[in-house]
Amino acid sequence: MKDIRILDKVFEEYLSEENIQARIADLARQINRDYAGKDPLIVSVLNGAFIFTADLARHLNFDPEIQFVRLSSYHGGTKSSGQMRVLLDLSNSPEGRDVLIVEDIVDTGRTLDWLRRDLMVKGANSVKIASLLFKHEMYQFPEPPEYFCFKIPNAFVVGYGLDYAERGRNLRAIYSLKP
Ligand code: IMP
Ligand code: MG
Repeated sequence: MKDIRILDKVFEEYLSEENIQARIADLARQINRDYAGKDPLIVSVLNGAFIFTADLARHLNFDPEIQFVRLSSYHGGTKSSGQMRVLLDLSNSPEGRDVLIVEDIVDTGRTLDWLRRDLMVKGANSVKIASLLFKHEMYQFPEPPEYFCFKIPNAFVVGYGLDYAERGRNLRAIYSLKP
């Protein structure tokens, strides 16, 4: 498997494009079943989830309203800072809506716990999370995300929307940092 370099770091392929696409199709089938007859509001968490959201949404057999939020808890490095700022908020109210948050990766879970509470406070009927990746070893909450494509160990990953210092997002596969 070929290694790639981004800025000062070397990464190796970890999840292939084919593997990612197959799991997204599986996940979409599950979401199509679970939300049949409902009108969910998809809340995509920028920047990392933009590619996953685009691929997942095109497998859905309903016509979802899709909104974007941008929160900041990370500051360009490879470790979470624990800070939370809303850089882009919802453009319509989630009141009464069945919200499906779409994320690239759940790490400690702090970002999503904060967002889930915020949506419930604003009157959402239900809030579930669909994440491409779930770093379960770092997770700090009792309830795991309702939907995820891959459970991964605590390695730093890039590609398919995920960045290292804002680079690597357009890679079709996912790569992990070489030790
Ligand atoms: P949490 O609040 O600790 O769950 O942080 C989640 C956010 O941290 C994700 O939405 C990503 O933006 C970022 N993040 C966590 N792990 C990684 C990684 O391995 N690569 C790139 N970004 C990551
Ligand atoms: Mg993210």
